[in-house]
Amino acid sequence: MNLDIRIDVSRARDAAVGREHGITRAELDKLQPRVSDAHAILQRERAEGQYGFWDLYKQSGVFDDVKAAAARFAQKGYDNLVVLGIGGSSLGTIALGAALLSPYHNLLSKGGRKGAPRLFVMDNIDPTVFREMMRICPPKKTLYNVISKSGGTAETMSQLMIVVDAIEKKLGSGAMKDHVVVTTNPRRSDAPPSLLHPVADEYGLTEFAVPLNVGGRFSVFSPVGMFPAAMLGMDLDAIRNGCAAMDQRCADADLKSNPAYLRAAIQYLADVNKGKSISVMLAYANGLYSIADWYRQLWAESLGKRYSLDGEEVFAGQTPVKALGATDQHSQIQLYREGPNDKLINTLETRKFARTLRIPPTLTSIAQLEYLRGASMNKLMAAELQGTLDALRLSQRPVSRIILPQINAHTVAQVLYLLEVETAMAGRLYNVNTFDQPGVEEGKKIARKLMGGEG
Ligand code: PA5
Repeated sequence: MNLDIRIDVSRARDAAVGREHGITRAELDKLQPRVSDAHAILQRERAEGQYGFWDLYKQSGVFDDVKAAAARFAQKGYDNLVVLGIGGSSLGTIALGAALLSPYHNLLSKGGRKGAPRLFVMDNIDPTVFREMMRICPPKKTLYNVISKSGGTAETMSQLMIVVDAIEKKLGSGAMKDHVVVTTNPRRSDAPPSLLHPVADEYGLTEFAVPLNVGGRFSVFSPVGMFPAAMLGMDLDAIRNGCAAMDQRCADADLKSNPAYLRAAIQYLADVNKGKSISVMLAYANGLYSIADWYRQLWAESLGKRYSLDGEEVFAGQTPVKALGATDQHSQIQLYREGPNDKLINTLETRKFARTLRIPPTLTSIAQLEYLRGASMNKLMAAELQGTLDALRLSQRPVSRIILPQINAHTVAQVLYLLEVETAMAGRLYNVNTFDQPGVEEGKKIARKLMGGEG
């Protein structure tokens, strides 16, 4: 079976939604030289190792270490894996968990989870939630993976302090190394010092490095995403193969053959030429919905920039929005069809679900339900999707589609890799620094200062 994901931008083109809202061949042709120049820059930056997300999947040694550590910790039979982290340090794991684990993973018996621990991702500092998590995941039965690239994020450090205190009180500090794994900046003289290093030293913790040239939101294929994935029994080789397959498809500059560049071009032109300042990601499977969340951070933090690379004030960036089909047909589609035509809608679809669910031929006294009797929920979902696509076209709303043959580690990795490359190209088209986040850093500093720490 062909496991390549498919990209279809035909519904974002003028032939589908008219010239006012759809991208024309002439617009794409005109953009091609800029895409080719940007490709050359991205390739140079990649070769020079300026940005490392492209090649994370090739780091066999890192994957071997992650797998070995996960196998070692798995022997201890933890009930729970708790990830402490925020933003780029957590959204990848949430996306992978939602896509690749059973929808009710945490409610299954250990056998039903094939021995894998339950997953709790603590990506906020809501005291009620965190306290309840600590009750549900007591230290004795839990492995906590604290993830912070900078190793100084207040939210994550406060979580860690609560966990360390609980372990010390319940199990003693000697047990820390069996219950806490650290993922942070590498120990290099040119790396900003991470506050997690002295913690790891003090307690002799297992530690993974996030490469210096990989930003948080581009780090899902580093130990940030891959150690939790290994602990949860995900197929890391299939993930690596998915990245490799998409890397290969994104190798040249031609908009006709490079799916990530084509998608970037469509999004960019939709924004600057057609006024589509909102980029909706509409997932048509619950398992894909958290990818929309991950994409929201990637697109927002990478492209939402005040200054261009030339120092001009540009206030660039589309606003990413997430939505779920069929649920949001009953919440958002009214706006998407009849409200301002300021959105490019990106669907995230799967041709096949893991399960087929037949609708039984029951309630026979109700003639109006005949069309559902004996059909399947799968068929109904496909019809809802098709109905939405066609309805959006009728209202001249552009749609760009990502279609998975099915949801698995190989196809999901392709999607994540595609969106990373797309974002890198989009940043070049907007002429902004894709890889920094001055707006986030500023807020972190202010909050630290307000707490009486160093600003
Ligand atoms: O993409 C990014 O760099 C940010 O969103 C970070 O991931 C987020 O702020 C968390 O930072 P850290 O991993 O340093 O704790």
